[in-house]
Amino acid sequence: MAIGYQQEKRIFTLDTAHTSYQMKVDDFGFLLHLYYGGRVYGNMDYLLTCYDRGFSGNPSDAGNDRTYSMDVLPQEYPVMGIGDFRNSALIIHNADGSDCCDLRYVGHETKKEKYRLPGLPAVYADSGEAETLEIYLEDKVNGVRVTLLYGVLAEADIITRSAVIENRGESGVTVGKAASACLDFLTGSYDMLSFYGRHTMERNLQREEIRHGTYAIGSRRGASSHQYNPAVILAERNTTEDAGSCYGLVFVYSGNFLCEAERDQYDQTRILMGLQSDLFHYPLKKGEKLVVPETILSYSDQGLGTLSARFHHCIGEHLCRGKYRNAPRPILLNSWEAAYFTFDGNTILKLAESAADLGIDMIVMDDGWFGKREDDNSGLGDWHVNEKKLGCSLKELTEKVNRAGVSFGIWIEPEMVSEDSELYRQHPDWALRIPGREPIRCRNQLVLDFSRAEVREYIFEQICGILDQGKIEYVKWDMNRSIVDVSSMETCQGKVTYDYMIGVYDFLEKLLQRYPDMLIEGCSGGGGRFDAGMLYYTPQIWCSDNTDALDRLRIQYGTSFFYPASTVGSHVSAVPNHQTGRSVSLHTRGVVAMAGTFGYELDPAKLSEEEKTVVREQIRQYKSWEMLIRGGNYYRLTNPFSDTCAAWMFVSEKKDRALVSVVMLEMHGNMTVSYVKMRGLEPQAVYRDAENGRRYFGADLMQAGLPMPVEFKEYPAYQIELIREA
Ligand code: GLA
Repeated sequence: MAIGYQQEKRIFTLDTAHTSYQMKVDDFGFLLHLYYGGRVYGNMDYLLTCYDRGFSGNPSDAGNDRTYSMDVLPQEYPVMGIGDFRNSALIIHNADGSDCCDLRYVGHETKKEKYRLPGLPAVYADSGEAETLEIYLEDKVNGVRVTLLYGVLAEADIITRSAVIENRGESGVTVGKAASACLDFLTGSYDMLSFYGRHTMERNLQREEIRHGTYAIGSRRGASSHQYNPAVILAERNTTEDAGSCYGLVFVYSGNFLCEAERDQYDQTRILMGLQSDLFHYPLKKGEKLVVPETILSYSDQGLGTLSARFHHCIGEHLCRGKYRNAPRPILLNSWEAAYFTFDGNTILKLAESAADLGIDMIVMDDGWFGKREDDNSGLGDWHVNEKKLGCSLKELTEKVNRAGVSFGIWIEPEMVSEDSELYRQHPDWALRIPGREPIRCRNQLVLDFSRAEVREYIFEQICGILDQGKIEYVKWDMNRSIVDVSSMETCQGKVTYDYMIGVYDFLEKLLQRYPDMLIEGCSGGGGRFDAGMLYYTPQIWCSDNTDALDRLRIQYGTSFFYPASTVGSHVSAVPNHQTGRSVSLHTRGVVAMAGTFGYELDPAKLSEEEKTVVREQIRQYKSWEMLIRGGNYYRLTNPFSDTCAAWMFVSEKKDRALVSVVMLEMHGNMTVSYVKMRGLEPQAVYRDAENGRRYFGADLMQAGLPMPVEFKEYPAYQIELIREA
């Protein structure tokens, strides 16, 4: 039993293979958090201490006991207005103007399977793999009922949390802030690892000590954003890749979020993950509910590598869905960096022919094939094929491409509208804008109000009309601006950002239902919406608009802390690179792109015969390693922000095959030697280097490492395939 309840002490225990999570209903009905961490066996309520703490309030239930304070005790779902002055998980604005919600335990239920969340992405599991605990809390005065949901995937060492806020009272209330997870730590000194960035430079690792005060990251951009990924790690200060305690929190949501870490007056730490409170005030009339998106939690006492492995497994196997969850992904040739907006049907066909010649599986026709779309200033919303530009119908083009020997994919950006479009001229009110104000432009486009069913339905019909025209096996779903004008004609303003995301998810769900075999790749100016929410619908996401191999090493390193390689859209592009002007060898570009779903983003006609031979070899190699990369365990071997080389490896489940990839980052006079220490091998097994036949014990490669060659080259890269001897 993963979920236990001791009636007498009112203690809940959630056990996974290596972790325990405990909470307790106290004498007054408050739900206190007791413990989360490595497996424990007893009741952890002995950890609680009570002293008279000046200026910290005491609930009236405690009578004259001045030692009992919500401001000090660890809580499971802290609310504003009951004497806890730290950051709240929930803020309720009541009809009488007060901001208070006094939640007390009223009951609980356990279920033999993992809960689902209506309209929202969530971790799923087969029956027998997960259990659910629902705890009901209620405020008697305003009638607000909160259901705390806990999903326990015992074998996977994963606990998920979500909350449903329901108004059962007579008067309306407004939710001003809602998190799905709170972790309170009585003791310890923690670093927060977060992943910041910008367009074309996403998910840089930042490790900061959590000091007194609040350290917060989040998004107000309408999407999870390039700037801060909705996933963080709380690590004890000495935690490394393979030693020490750490906790991961991944928000399964693609819109505005807020993550706050706080060290309080008694050196206790609180971390909250949930919906962004800015631009959000969600009214609930009697009987209405708000479902707070899920947070996935995991803990490792063996460092960051093990924590990442748990999230890779959870996201790859319990969040990604559909045919492509476990099927090989097609190797793509995308037209964007090959042709941008300047192409016709013939250009696409030529790309398809050269793709087939090189062994590439699929050609993707990127932006520019529809409406009036010669650049990024017009045409969005007009989802009809520009046959004049293509010189043929879409059906003809797909047939020709298929005849050339490759499959066909297409780019769409359904959530957007250009002011210069037929759609906008007909339905200006379908765009999000604040009445009486000019809209804020971003890439010269506006955002369609996807919180409105009629808007979604219209676009859905248009997009299906395109996808039904030919054999289209892949869609790149893009979203190329932030949301500024948070106002809808239909719904109240404080609901828009949330309802918009629910609308996007609804659209994606319907698309998947209608085209179950379609591979959808997410994208938002590259990695501006690279999150666990989108991965429920799109098993891969274009990781970044930056295809420079060196920058990608850092971007993919940051991405790897939570997201498995199978989700990381990664392509080889031309040099000098279009984002940085840097030239890196084709071999090195290939090695870097092979840390994800492989493909190309260039015009093969511009490659020399020698380069084409390299590309054919890359494709042959990738196909032979595809299973190892997609299904194997991933290990970070170095830190590309600080080490002389970037190195990572994939090890098969059975540990009988491994692929080590290394890119040298530094070259100096009389260069020092870099030794790469491996991970995840069987210590006593002998591994053969598939290329030169040299044999090593797994332990030797892990303890002492392998010296990398010193070559007089810029950024040379190496791939070492290791095969375990029988
Ligand atoms: C975004 C994407 C690119 C490309 C362009 C097309 O920037 O990230 O890959 O599809 O849009 O406009």
